[in-house]
Parts: sequence; C-alpha cells; structure tokens
Amino acid sequence: MSNDGKSTFSIERNTQPVAAAERAQLLQDPAFGRVFTDHMATARYSAERGWHDAKIEARRDFTLNPATLVLHYAQEIFEGLKAYRLADGGAALFRPDANARRFRNSATRLAMAPLPEELFIESVRELVRIDRDWIPSSDGAALYLRPFMIATEVLVGVKPSSEYLYCVIASPVGSYFKGGAPAVTIWVSDNYTRAAPGGTGDAKCGGNYAASLAAQAEASREGCDQVVFLDAVERRWVEELGGMNVFFVFDDGSLQTPPLGGTILPGITRESLIVLARDMGLTVREEPYAIDQWQADAASGKLREAFACGTAAVVTPIGKVKGRRHEITIGDGGAGPVTGRLKAALLGIQQGRTPDPHGWMTLLS
Ligand code: PLP
Ligand code: COI
Repeated sequence: MSNDGKSTFSIERNTQPVAAAERAQLLQDPAFGRVFTDHMATARYSAERGWHDAKIEARRDFTLNPATLVLHYAQEIFEGLKAYRLADGGAALFRPDANARRFRNSATRLAMAPLPEELFIESVRELVRIDRDWIPSSDGAALYLRPFMIATEVLVGVKPSSEYLYCVIASPVGSYFKGGAPAVTIWVSDNYTRAAPGGTGDAKCGGNYAASLAAQAEASREGCDQVVFLDAVERRWVEELGGMNVFFVFDDGSLQTPPLGGTILPGITRESLIVLARDMGLTVREEPYAIDQWQADAASGKLREAFACGTAAVVTPIGKVKGRRHEITIGDGGAGPVTGRLKAALLGIQQGRTPDPHGWMTLLS
C-alpha cells in the first residue's frame, strides 16, 4: 500500500456520533482511558496481500474466532501518544514519528509484520482529524491515542501469525493518577521482576503489562500508586515503573536515569526530557542507580527529587518509596523545583505555548 500524497485511509463516517452536548459533558472530567471517540482507524495485513484495507470507520466491537492466535499466545503490541489542543485553537501531535519507529521495533521483537511508519503516522493524523472535537481543552488534558496490533490468524499452533489487524482508538484523558496529590508513592517490587536480558522489556507488548499486574496489585495493597521494578539479574538496579520511566535529581543540580539496554522501555518522554534538561544546561547521566543508594542518598539529602515520566503520566513527582526493605522519603515528600521546570518546559512545547526548537510537534490541518 503506497501513499502518493492522497490519504491511504478510506473514510466511513459514524452515522450515530455522540451528540455535542453529551460529548461536552464527557470532556469535562474524562479521567484516564474510560471515554472513547466516535471513530477508529483500522488496517489489515496478510502474507499474500501485505497491508491493505486501511479505513477510518465508526468505533465498533470486533468479532473474533475463539481460535484467533492473539487470544492464546499474546502476540500483541501497542503504542501511546497524545494530540494536544494548542493555545491558538489548533491541534498537534507530539513526536508521532518516534512512536511509529518504536511500534516497528516492537513488531520485529514479537515476530509480527512491521507497519510502515508512514501508515502509522497517517492513521493517527486521520483519526485525530475526524475526531478533532474530542480533544479536551482543559489544563493537563489531551486526546490519548492508542495504536495497537493483534495476531488474527485462526490457529492454535505456536508460530508467528500470517495475518494481523492494526487499529487506533482515541480517548480524551485528564491526569493518569487519581487523587491530585502533589507526589506519588511507589512500591519496590522485590519478588517480581518485569523484564530479563533477552526478553521483551524494550518492546511495548501487552504481555509485559500482564506480567506487571501482580506487582501492581501488591503496590495497591500497600497503599502505593505504582510499582518500581529492579533488574532481574541482581535485584539491585532500579529499572522503571510499571508504566513509566524514572529520573533522579541531585543536590548539584544533575540528573540521572537508568540506561536503556534491552530491559527498559525507551520512553519518548524520557528521551525528550534528557534533551530539555541539557538545553537548560543541566548534566544528565544515563547510568545505573541502585535501590540501596536511592535510600542512602535520600537520607543524606544528596538526592533532592525523583520523578516518573511517560505519555500518560507526563512528569509526576515521586514523594515516597516503600518496600519490604525500604522506606524512602525524597526531599519533603512533595514536588521539587527541577521536576516542575522540566514539566513546564515539556508541556509548554506540547500545548504550543512556547517555541518548539526540536521540531517535535506535528501540526494538524
Ligand atoms: N515505561 C513503560 C513500561 C511504559 O509503559 C511507558 C509508557 O508508554 C513508558 C516507560 C514511557 O514511555 P513514553 O514516554 O514513550 O510514553
Ligand atoms: C503510556 O504512557 O502511553 C502508557 O502506555 C502507559 C500506561 C500506564 C497507560
């Protein structure tokens, strides 16, 4: 399927869209991931035809044969990116090319058919264009886009599927963390790990999240908002949270974040914040950080701030860390100034309030 300048996606409008008054009400306080727009983008792949049948259509249920491969062996990948309402009333996507690339890498790791990056970008552009009225304009809100791909061959044999369904749905969202506390509390998982060397830790596949849920449930039971995972080999090095990367801010003003290396998701927010911090003249190290060091540095005051980052979480201060062997309060347990500056710099670009020196925003016409 090629795009010679025209849209590859045929458009079948939803004939029963949500009424404007109901939509306005849903947009007032959408929370995270519960409200969905009128349309979805879909495309299909088969070994014989390649990618075909790209459509924007009314969002609807799928009908799947019970023997569909994804239901058995979890050959599934996804992405998460946001469309923002700009200060001048326009709309834009943040770094969709980076999500397209990561989606391709995830597909390769899961032995799935890679989706051409142009098709990924076009699918999210076209979906946001048709569902543009669903982009919330309240502070901190955005339209969250969820591209995903599933193995659709009907077979209960263990092998890469010869057929795939690609789909994008869209969901107006507010803050990922409920409660509005200035900082979150996280739980150190010392009995579960998320990813091992050679595994799928740097792919965005549903299986990683399924594997994280027992640890996340433990975190909730312990009164924590999220779980932080340690490396699977030494159970010593901080890797990332269940759904976000982590940064540390020290008393000399420098920042540190665990290095990528196969077991951590290469977050687009992580990469963008490294660039923005360096633009501010701050030193950023991508180096391992041990959980015991985290506790010692917080106690001595060497560690001033810690924060989680991701598309859903944006930049969220971490105030406390709890675990069977750990009890850490960072700074005064609230939000720190460097975290605040980085969050403001990122949101300024994403919401079109400040210049975009790195060309990260894709404006939607
Ligand atoms: N790590 C995990 C496990 C995630 O699920 C996410 C969210 O996508 C991130 C990190 C942050 O990635 P990004 O900034 O690209 O959203
Ligand atoms: C995202 O930030 O896009 C994610 O996929 C993380 C998930 C916790 C919603």
